[in-house]
Amino acid sequence: MLRTRILGTGFVTGEHLVKNEALARVMDTSDAWIRERSGIEQRYFVEAGTSTSDLGLGAARKALDDAGLKASEVDYIVFATMTPDHFFPGCGALLQNKLGLGHVPALDIRQQCTGFIYGLQVSDALLRSGQAQTVLLVGAEVHAGFMPWTQWDHLFGRPGPAPTAEEKAWNSKFRDRTVLFGDAAGAVVLRAAEGERGLLGFKVHSDGTGFEALYVPSCGFAQRPYVTAGDLAEGRHIPQMNGKHVFKLAVTRMPQVVREVCAANGVQVRDLDLLIAHQANLRINEAVQRALELPDEKVFNNIQRYGNTTAATIPIALDEARRAGRVKEGQLVCFVGLGAGFHWGAALLRA
Ligand code: ACO
Repeated sequence: MLRTRILGTGFVTGEHLVKNEALARVMDTSDAWIRERSGIEQRYFVEAGTSTSDLGLGAARKALDDAGLKASEVDYIVFATMTPDHFFPGCGALLQNKLGLGHVPALDIRQQCTGFIYGLQVSDALLRSGQAQTVLLVGAEVHAGFMPWTQWDHLFGRPGPAPTAEEKAWNSKFRDRTVLFGDAAGAVVLRAAEGERGLLGFKVHSDGTGFEALYVPSCGFAQRPYVTAGDLAEGRHIPQMNGKHVFKLAVTRMPQVVREVCAANGVQVRDLDLLIAHQANLRINEAVQRALELPDEKVFNNIQRYGNTTAATIPIALDEARRAGRVKEGQLVCFVGLGAGFHWGAALLRA
């Protein structure tokens, strides 16, 4: 059986470590609130000028090194992000150029927090059908541009103006979302080979019903012009989120799709050696773990240190889990995620 194997993994973060306490410099929030509701302790943000494709490049180089391959051996790039450097073109072509890869095809995936899982499915199809030999799959995000504040120096602890009371009130309007996100990129290098090891199967779903529970209202072509001064003044360029609704969707659909992918591939949930779920909220992942009745040693979470890095969370967690010796040859690993769209899905890997 021809199966897609993960030959190498790697990740990078934004340059600036921002602990919860530091966020209170620019908005009305606290370490206690953020920890209690989300489990997040810190996240990284990029320095101005560092883009999603830059982080993607850093992660790609690490994953290629880990695989022991040269960039020139990649013959297909798949790039998942919801925060591309430009409205168009997507980041795939920009990364291809930064890697000096000539004319290899570069595909952009926009499935938000499920982007990595959709990207894995597409990559697996390309590899097993012989249309690609070596795929570089990247999940990368720079969420900093979504943040409502301008006082970045003050946030980073550098000399710079603190927000006025009015500015702090504005920044705080979005605090239920902005405290969750961080900037980072993760990458994997994939090749197909004969044998039992590799990706076993996928189950992915989409449902556009109620997409407004998590979306960016402006900066889109449902309006003209696609962005206005009013949008910026009213914060319609910042994601809007019904947090409780997203939470409920995540804790019901993620366990469901894990059960589906296991059933479709003839394995039991209890056979899983490791569950790597999208890192949106530690409380969500704890509920998913309880629903699936998995012990702590079978679940890997790292949102405490990175926050929600959207398309990057799963490859980052996979890289850390591998380096921590939590993914051993022959073990059964399940990836699962849910995000804006709504899109959700799961993948099974025989490591
Ligand atoms: N700091 C302090 N207080 C806050 C903050 C904050 N950062 N944010 C909100 N609050 C306050 C609210 O004002 C509210 O106060 P009130 O009771 O006086 O009105 C109180 O805390 C509770 O706010 P809720 O929004 O109701 O809090 P909730 O328990 O729903 O938790 C959270 C919010 C953490 C966002 C949760 O709903 C969640 O994680 N939802 C899922 C989010 C998610 O997974 N998003 C998807 C990822 S993104 C993607 O797919 C692209």
